[in-house]
Amino acid sequence: MKFFIDTAKVEDIKKANDMGVICGVTTNPSLIAKEGRVFEEVIAEIASIVDGPISGEVKATTTDAEGMIEEGRAIAAIHPNMVVKIPMTPEGLKACKQLTKEGIKTNVTLVFTANQALLAARAGATYVSPFLGRLDDISVRGVDLIAEIAQIFDVAGIDTQIIAASVRNPIHVTDCALAGADIATVPYAVIEQMTKHPLTDAGIAKFQADYKAVFGE
Ligand code: E4P
Repeated sequence: MKFFIDTAKVEDIKKANDMGVICGVTTNPSLIAKEGRVFEEVIAEIASIVDGPISGEVKATTTDAEGMIEEGRAIAAIHPNMVVKIPMTPEGLKACKQLTKEGIKTNVTLVFTANQALLAARAGATYVSPFLGRLDDISVRGVDLIAEIAQIFDVAGIDTQIIAASVRNPIHVTDCALAGADIATVPYAVIEQMTKHPLTDAGIAKFQADYKAVFGE
């Protein structure tokens, strides 16, 4: 399983990219709004940092296929690495089909059932984004959805990639990897948590103490 970072915060993207662990970025309208900056500007800056797929979502206020297609073309024109993120609706599927036909990569988002994922794949989506954490929030096991989609795609020979989204903690990450997600898109705070273990810290402290006891500083 590969990692994308799920944020529009440029400093966090730089930190994760410097660590060498991410190969793509996902954003959404809420994450863009949180930064309070012009969409095209932030996306162009992100593209100058990460050399990999960058998902930019159509505006939350655009709900018809024509509007999404037009916006999708503009998003794709920002940088060759752009992926157009489209909500999982009948209009979204229509837009996905057209953009795919034009050679534009797509990420169908807000996927909460295996059938939604299957429809998105059949409409030509490059990626589907099942939202793990938001399902857990309503007492439905998000990881079961990831496993179902992975199994269906495998049986049907579908090459649409599964991005496990709405990842909230390191256990989610392990669960997604075991369930067969191709990618997990993870906030920086979770990447940082994943690096940590108290025995790692204790081990470093002991190595330092032992070394200093014989060789000094
Ligand atoms: C996915 O692409 C979304 O941007 C994101 O993972 C949503 O996460 P949230 O449910 O924590 O807002």
